[in-house]
Amino acid sequence: MVTADRFRPLETGEYEVTPKSTKNTKERTRPRQQDARQVQETLLRLQKAVETMQLGVTITDITGKIVYTNTADARMHGHAVDELVGEDVSIFCLPGYRRSLSAGQLGRMKSWQRESMNVRKDGSLFPVSLMSDVVQDAHGRPLGIVTTCEDLTESKRTEAQRERLEVQVRQSQKLESLGVLAGGVAHDLSHVLQGILGNARLVLSNVPPEATTLHEHAAALERDAIKLSDLTNQLLAYSGDTEVETAPLDLNDVVLDMVHVIEVSKAANVELRYDLGTDLPMIDADATKFRQLINHLTMNASEAIGDANGIMTVRTGVRWANRSYLAGTYLSQDVSPGRYVYLEVLDNGCGMDRETKARVFDPFFTTKAAGRGLGLAAAMGIVRGHKGVIRIDTFPERGTSFLVLIPAIEDPADGPATHDDGLG
Ligand SMILES: Nc1ncnc2c1ncn2[C@@H]1O[C@H](COP(=O)(O)OP(=O)(O)OP(=O)(O)O)[C@@H](O)[C@H]1O
Ligand SMILES: [Mg+2]
Repeated sequence: MVTADRFRPLETGEYEVTPKSTKNTKERTRPRQQDARQVQETLLRLQKAVETMQLGVTITDITGKIVYTNTADARMHGHAVDELVGEDVSIFCLPGYRRSLSAGQLGRMKSWQRESMNVRKDGSLFPVSLMSDVVQDAHGRPLGIVTTCEDLTESKRTEAQRERLEVQVRQSQKLESLGVLAGGVAHDLSHVLQGILGNARLVLSNVPPEATTLHEHAAALERDAIKLSDLTNQLLAYSGDTEVETAPLDLNDVVLDMVHVIEVSKAANVELRYDLGTDLPMIDADATKFRQLINHLTMNASEAIGDANGIMTVRTGVRWANRSYLAGTYLSQDVSPGRYVYLEVLDNGCGMDRETKARVFDPFFTTKAAGRGLGLAAAMGIVRGHKGVIRIDTFPERGTSFLVLIPAIEDPADGPATHDDGLG
């Protein structure tokens, strides 16, 4: 608690010192004048200290009128000190947010602390931590309030970043363990299925076609077993537990191989555009897996557009990805900054809300009536198997971009890859 009796803050930011008695000036003694000068000097030193503080300090009278504010507080709120002295302290608050305290309440309060949102001169809001102390005179009567104000923007931002990272790590761990589980189940299933399929084929080849019903049952068994093994393969792809036969590959060649397939599998109302980068560096990739990946992404894009007319763009290119860019992608745990070749499938379809986006890679997660929810799970397995990363940008009702980045094969003859911050 600050005690003040004879010191009145002035609008200039200085203090007026009132002598104890002004009735008889002759009574004033030299030591008293020295005392006053010393006090004045102390106050000036204190004022200087407050002026150089990072923390905002504002003093108001009991009606809430600002009688003093330091440069830090004024700057934090986007004002000049001169603009604030004489103003009501509500200038810092959201309309209707200032709590007026009566003299009685102030008399009973000593100090209080709170977090709040303050308003800058340009109307923008920012988070603050406030600590207020009541200034009393020698008789305990409230004279005003001293409030310190700390701008929490930076610490809140760091906290939000940390939370985002935590969510991402949790998501990766979840996908990792689901991958292991899916891989284990799919391996076992696939062995059993090979047995079923083999036996169904044996029956088919041994039962004479005239035994129609038996033949039909065996054929149905074979068909179902094939469907199930297709599903198991997707699960295996998701777990990344399949053979990846990589070779240096030009991503554009794979896309061009797929043009016909994409054309026939997309809906007629979807306009297809290509934007293929030139002189792409090679990537170490499995062409078959990449064709599957393109298939999953383009099918989803076409389905997201639905019945309305829409545009799907398949884009390739090369970009530098720095650490902070990679931090915003999926599967970024074990990858390093560097040059990446990218494949982007962009649509202007239904987009996704936050909940959907958070679950898209979960096996069996689907929002479609006939969906199995395995396309993106498999896509993720493929990207993982290529030491790549995936980034999703999506806006409900506006569209989605799936961007897959695979490390470029660096040609030692080119020297170290140069880094363009603008792209990172
Ligand atoms: N381009 C996109 N736009 C909007 N939502 C999408 C897009 N791609 C995927 N999704 C969402 O992610 C979910 C999972 O996609 P995924 O490909 O894994 O399964 P699916 O398409 O539902 O079924 P399938 O196994 O047949 O591919 C979809 O059901 C959909 O909600
Ligand atoms: Mg799909």
